[in-house]
Amino acid sequence: MASTQHTPTELEAAGDLVLPAADELAGRFPLTPNAYPATPEEYDEIMSTLAFGKKFTDHMAHMRWTREGGWDDRGVIPYGPLELTPGASVFHYCQSVFEGIKAYKREDGSVWTFRPGYNAARLNHSARRLALPELSREDFVASLVDYVRADVKWVPGVDGSSLYLRPFMFASEEFVGVHPAGVVDYYVIGSPSGPYFKGGLSGVAIWVEREYHRAGPGGTGSAKAGGNYAASLLPQIQAEAKGFSQVCFLDTYEGKYLEELGGMNMFVVMADGTIRTPELTGVILEGGTRSAILRLLRDQGVDVREEKIALSEVVDGIRSGAVSEVFACGTAAVVTPITRLAGDDFDVEIEVGDKTREIHKRLTDIQWGRAEDPYGWTYRLV
Ligand code: COI
Repeated sequence: MASTQHTPTELEAAGDLVLPAADELAGRFPLTPNAYPATPEEYDEIMSTLAFGKKFTDHMAHMRWTREGGWDDRGVIPYGPLELTPGASVFHYCQSVFEGIKAYKREDGSVWTFRPGYNAARLNHSARRLALPELSREDFVASLVDYVRADVKWVPGVDGSSLYLRPFMFASEEFVGVHPAGVVDYYVIGSPSGPYFKGGLSGVAIWVEREYHRAGPGGTGSAKAGGNYAASLLPQIQAEAKGFSQVCFLDTYEGKYLEELGGMNMFVVMADGTIRTPELTGVILEGGTRSAILRLLRDQGVDVREEKIALSEVVDGIRSGAVSEVFACGTAAVVTPITRLAGDDFDVEIEVGDKTREIHKRLTDIQWGRAEDPYGWTYRLV
């Protein structure tokens, strides 16, 4: 689709709706303070390491849904192990979905997040596909507000770091019959994190997978379902053993067109200035970062195209110079240059380019409040 004709997707339209301010939502998840928070030594160790997704804060938000009573039992409670029966259906049928979103600390100490309405809509999109209950976007955002307010000291202030928020929902009913669960738990946990890829803007090497797919037509590919990520792990470890950071999956029908990486979307920058990304087919995830980048580029007048992109075109284009940059994007990955693309019968390298750097800067300047946000994407939590 050419840049001028874009109709907002359902998620984009929902994400653009104005949300109540955090102060209006605060308090829906009352706090039970953790009597055993991290010690000052543990806190210092975690905040000086900032490994992605490895350590978590003192609290978590929670609520429970039952078929009879709907969502209830809201609270911010001490972070800790969950008590679940081995018969809980999530262990058997993977009825589980999640989101990824970040809390950013600005220079003035205020804490913001990015497009929470979009993530709320996507969580509900995923929940529908997995026969899980939907939640109101106000509850979704309130869970972030109350959780982050309780653990605000865990939002790192170092450039490029953030509190990575992981809202998730799963079937906790004790029943191994194959049916949608009548009891579901929702949590938000958070991990003080630095960059997802250690190399940051220096680029990553990607292996193009031909044997395995992460999802297929009519499946759960457009949902942020744990099972899609599980399906990416075997090819991922095989690729890592060959020295690659991530896998790129191809379409299931012809094995010809780029879809997405194990946990992020992809863009291809052409030497003629056009920027392309695989179209939304119902198989790939509609990334919030993908959507924001498309909007920023369209508004700069760039010819951006959501379309089928053949792997062969990209490989030939890198060799001929017709393709000038390739990058990955996602909440965790932000904007990460791809500097090597290889598969069974090809291996090409490409430099990190100015367009990738410029998009990274434009987006992160808005996220961290260093540039004006004309879209209303940033949302103050604290
Ligand atoms: C995110 O970018 O937030 C994701 O959920 C992807 C995962 C690879 C961390």
